[in-house]
Amino acid sequence: MTAHLPPADRSARKLILGLTVRTLGAYPGAWRLPDAHSDPYGDADELRSIAVAAESSALDFLYFGDWLTTGPELEATDPSLIARIEPLSAVSFLAGITSRIGLIATINTAHSEPFSTARTTASVDLLSHGRAALNIVTGADPLSARNFGWPKVHDETHRFEAATEYIEILRGLWDSWESDAFVSDKETGRLIDPSKLHSLDYVGVHYSSLGPLNVPRPVQGHLPIVHAGTSVSSRQLASTHADIAIMSLPSLGEAITSYAETKAAVGALGRDPDEFTIIVPFLPLVGTTRDEAWRAYDELADLVEVDDGRLVPRPVELPASRNIRTVSRLLGVPLQARDVDSVVSPVEASRFLDGGVRLLELVRARSGRVVGGVRPVRYRDLIVAHSLALPIVVGSAEEIADELERWFRDGAADGFTILASHRAQFDSFLALVIPELRRRKLIDVRYRGTTLRDHLGLSVPPHSQLHSRAQSWLIGL
Ligand SMILES: Cc1cc2nc3c(=O)[nH]c(=O)nc-3n(C[C@H](O)[C@H](O)[C@H](O)COP(=O)(O)O)c2cc1C
Repeated sequence: MTAHLPPADRSARKLILGLTVRTLGAYPGAWRLPDAHSDPYGDADELRSIAVAAESSALDFLYFGDWLTTGPELEATDPSLIARIEPLSAVSFLAGITSRIGLIATINTAHSEPFSTARTTASVDLLSHGRAALNIVTGADPLSARNFGWPKVHDETHRFEAATEYIEILRGLWDSWESDAFVSDKETGRLIDPSKLHSLDYVGVHYSSLGPLNVPRPVQGHLPIVHAGTSVSSRQLASTHADIAIMSLPSLGEAITSYAETKAAVGALGRDPDEFTIIVPFLPLVGTTRDEAWRAYDELADLVEVDDGRLVPRPVELPASRNIRTVSRLLGVPLQARDVDSVVSPVEASRFLDGGVRLLELVRARSGRVVGGVRPVRYRDLIVAHSLALPIVVGSAEEIADELERWFRDGAADGFTILASHRAQFDSFLALVIPELRRRKLIDVRYRGTTLRDHLGLSVPPHSQLHSRAQSWLIGL
């Protein structure tokens, strides 16, 4: 199977670039750095400041993921999820502060209701003059389910069928009003043309809605639908119903295959693959030189809490992957409790199993540390590389831009959502990598359009009534 767009055709296209917003940082422990944001009570100001910075660099979107539970264990694994502003509230707030950047909020189809979501999201799209989008997650987490009084989550088939109905209702309700339904005729006293208001009468297995919606049609017609995931069900939902897929693949080769297959699946469904955008997440650690970037990596690795086997009491246990015994099994070398900052000797490294050799390679790529080198590998580095499943790229601005350009030009992604370890790294990305991407003409200096659909190159879908009228007219021919 060939990639939908051969690499040569990509020279004409721009790379899409957004930010996954995590005010406490996307890297565990980064909030401990001296100038890093560390108090969720300051999130309103931090969100404002992030959005203003992102917009001044003409980023295409801000993406807000969501998680419906919390607990003290997140302190060590994902502090940004511990307590934060709910995504639709965040994008509503930012709609009034920004004027060009796209705003993507996550909604959980299992634990919300399509009429309310259609109403809120159409409102945010109008408030932001056409810059909102909706990321759909289907609710696979048992703890989240219990927050909504459910004893357990539904199986995958049920969740994806329900999500499909949910999206069909959203689209139907967003089409309640035709764009010219408001005649606002002061002479005759006719505010609306009632023939341009449509109820939905949707009766599904999981959701039903009568309609119409009491909010005008969104500026973008329908908000772009985003879906993240790589399973068969996820890909199916994305290729059938989404405008944007977020896919995290472990290697460039796998990403190229996945990109080609997903675009082909979209085409096979009769959709235009150019109206479907594939976004890949990356966490860049950039410095003015590669050495500086390596130091940034080390600084963060040193802040990750790991269990060295000496059982120092901690309020909540760390995940098993942070444990020296877990890594010991992977390496194939018995490690007793030890100082994790001790250095891996060449003799020890020569006994590592394949899993250990792969970890050494990951550590070398990210930190420049090699066994027996001037910057030697510490056990900490192996534990950190094993336990953090983040798509990290470390290097100078040129090296980061090379990586993004490679993934884009080789047909692995239409664009990227940047995970920032912490605010200073986001600022460095804007200051160093953005000018380099502009120099390569991969991104524009300023926004060309006004809506998120404009930024992504997606057209406004025709109103379903106009569409069916046009079809019956064609059939009548
Ligand atoms: C990059 C990325 C971001 C995601 N963000 C969220 C999120 O914010 N909230 C959530 O509940 N699930 C999130 N997910 C989970 C997916 O929606 C999906 O449920 C999960 O990846 C399992 O599906 P999969 O096996 O297809 O990957 C995300 C997945 C990916 C790949």
